[in-house]
Amino acid sequence: MVTKRLLAAAVALLLSTGAGMAATAGLTCKEAVGKNIFFDDRLSINKNQSCAACHAPEAGWTGPNEMINKHGAVYEGSIPGEFGNRKPPSSAYATTSPFFRLVNPTNGMFMGGNFWDGRATGGKLGNPAADQAQGPFLNPKEQALPDAACVVFRVCSSPEYGAIFKKVWPGACDIMWPSSINFESACSNPSQGPFSLDAMTRAKVNVAYDDIAYSIAAYEASKESNAFTSKYDNYLNGKLELSDVEKKGLKLFNGKGKCANCHISTVEQKCSTSQSTCNGYNCSSSDSENNTYCSTMNPLFTDYTFDNLGIPKNPDNPFYKQPEGGNSWIDPGLGGFLMTRMDFKMYADQNYGKHKVPTLRNVDKRSYPMFVKAYGHNGYFKSLKEIVHFYNTRDKYPTYNSGDPREKMTCWPAPEVSANVNRTELGNLGLSDMEEDAIVSFLTTLSDGYMH
Ligand code: HEC
Ligand code: HEC
Repeated sequence: MVTKRLLAAAVALLLSTGAGMAATAGLTCKEAVGKNIFFDDRLSINKNQSCAACHAPEAGWTGPNEMINKHGAVYEGSIPGEFGNRKPPSSAYATTSPFFRLVNPTNGMFMGGNFWDGRATGGKLGNPAADQAQGPFLNPKEQALPDAACVVFRVCSSPEYGAIFKKVWPGACDIMWPSSINFESACSNPSQGPFSLDAMTRAKVNVAYDDIAYSIAAYEASKESNAFTSKYDNYLNGKLELSDVEKKGLKLFNGKGKCANCHISTVEQKCSTSQSTCNGYNCSSSDSENNTYCSTMNPLFTDYTFDNLGIPKNPDNPFYKQPEGGNSWIDPGLGGFLMTRMDFKMYADQNYGKHKVPTLRNVDKRSYPMFVKAYGHNGYFKSLKEIVHFYNTRDKYPTYNSGDPREKMTCWPAPEVSANVNRTELGNLGLSDMEEDAIVSFLTTLSDGYMH
């Protein structure tokens, strides 16, 4: 019954992504604009791909295509044949990530930012999710538009939501588009752009492009995206009980399984900049970033740090067949981003192969029970049971080559990056098969939209 209703909701959402305006009941105007942008296929070079193509609510704000999830787990861009290198993480709850920063110079520990490697730092727009939102439109492997001016042009001239955008951001669309460029055709041509615009027009385009990013970030922070309506939220709010097996799973998650060491599962205090205590909790200086008020928040299931779990390569990753990638390509994770930064370069080696701890909210959200999702930065795992089994037995069993018939049961391939593998918090947890299952049961309580 519940599943059917969820399915109907998913279908309604899908329908709302078509020609008409997205359903925006309960959203502020800024969030509503952001939602329309998020679901607008026309904001890609071939007018065939929106953010939701890789971040669909019915799949827990990640990839909605089962065939892709079962294999490479990387989504094709607007231009056929163009593939990036990673699995889309959830876009929901990304706005809760603090600014990217070095936490501990002694051990080179970083936290925060958006993307698996934290490279959307928040340094440009004061908000990691807004920084992130400016990436995909212009990424040749994603929406692939040749210039930010194309995004602004298409948003401002949208028959569905152009008018609300102008109301939310007065003056943003007052741009004298040069007649020398035919934006209609030039924006659909990958060999065009970036366009040469006079300084004044370029400055206005930049401001409007920032407004677009802030609108998306507002939608991503809205109640529709960061819903906090899972069974577990209801449990924390005292509205219902978990089942016995879910409770057992929670206990293992916090204890023997060590999951909560990184995926925080208890209510967090959010301190404002000026506060030394918040709801009886002593605020440390690092707590206050990004918050303007003191509040409690149900847990986000991440501490926003980075780790190398020793996940094997996903041999189906289509990036191995891209000219920029190739068979020997290895995902450098955080280390790769740090190499691009003069100020952080010296920490790159210590962080090679590490990825951001993702939220586990909606990790089991799927459009129907048998729908296959992929897990990990490269989508190597195809079920929650598989990844929990990996945490439990990575170091218990011998390492064999990928493709061995025992793979994922009693042997695991070598890590994609063998440096910096975390050997203290995972690898041989001594969980029984039933204990693994209980943890999986607990993970299923983290899906938003729980109805009881
Ligand atoms: C073709 C697929 C694709 C499209 C289209 C796409 N994304 Fe993503 N998204 C990804 C992938 C892959 C990553 C991870 C990339 C990485 O870490 O290098 C990602 C990462 C993110 C994250 C970071 C989440 C986190 O916790 O760090 C957010 C937020 C996000 N995308 C939002 C968006 C928005 C907004 C749009 C539209 C403007 C968009 N995405 C378009 C594939 C896509
Ligand atoms: C040392 C920190 C740490 C511990 C302990 C830990 N995780 Fe993770 N978890 C991570 C990181 C980092 C990733 C992403 C790694 C990657 O993709 O390379 C991750 C990824 C995941 C994912 C995939 C999510 C997605 O969107 O792809 C799941 C599910 C998960 N963890 C569940 C668990 C469970 C269950 C446990 C306990 C058995 C656990 N984790 C213990 C750090 C940790």
